[in-house]
Amino acid sequence: MDSIFGNETQPDGRLLDISAEIDAFEGYAHPHGKRIAVLADALAVRFNFASHDRATLGQAALVHDLGAMVMNREYIKTNRLLREDERIDMHRHTVIGEQEAAKRGLSRAVQLLVRWHHEWWNGSGYPDAIEREQIPLAARILRVADTFCAITDARPFRAAQTAADAKKHLIEWSGIEFDPKIVKMFLTLEGFSELRSYAEYEKSQADERFEEPSAQQAQERFENESGNDTAPAGQTVPSEND
Ligand SMILES: [Fe+2]
Repeated sequence: MDSIFGNETQPDGRLLDISAEIDAFEGYAHPHGKRIAVLADALAVRFNFASHDRATLGQAALVHDLGAMVMNREYIKTNRLLREDERIDMHRHTVIGEQEAAKRGLSRAVQLLVRWHHEWWNGSGYPDAIEREQIPLAARILRVADTFCAITDARPFRAAQTAADAKKHLIEWSGIEFDPKIVKMFLTLEGFSELRSYAEYEKSQADERFEEPSAQQAQERFENESGNDTAPAGQTVPSEND
């Protein structure tokens, strides 16, 4: 597969670092910006984006919530839903993110995607309440990918929901918050690990950990743990530094 940042631009280590910094600031358990970048790029390919537009979208996905980190509000990490005044304050993260992206030398195209990543298809979004095709296609893609990734991962105030629940949400809000043709395209994506909900992923990991060993596995484990007579002297126990 091509680079998620397009053919001409490799992932900029600096942007990956910023993305990890934002995830840590927001108290996310898993990489959020990076996951959005992968799914947004999968959509960009299906909408025949040119490679430089894919690169722009990938960069914007990584830093889309830069403004929230710069605002550095205490309430972001609380394990409760935000109050109305806090929610309105948080709307500013789009414009502050745009300014911060400019300060950090990112292109005007990236700055605008950061500004518009919360605009809604029906014009009820923020900060500019632009609607439909006034919103660049890349920003509409970001909205869908951001929402899917947010729902399927845990937040300080709620657990991760299933991928099926997230898709149901996209369908319900298609034509309201989301561009219907992007939702339709999103539902055709397959084969990306980023489409799995962390709720399901962690459950499968836990099931694997606690799965009862078969009789043969138990026997093999017993034999392995009862010492290895053939290993050279002094090498039966690995060093703690290995
Ligand atoms: Fe955001």
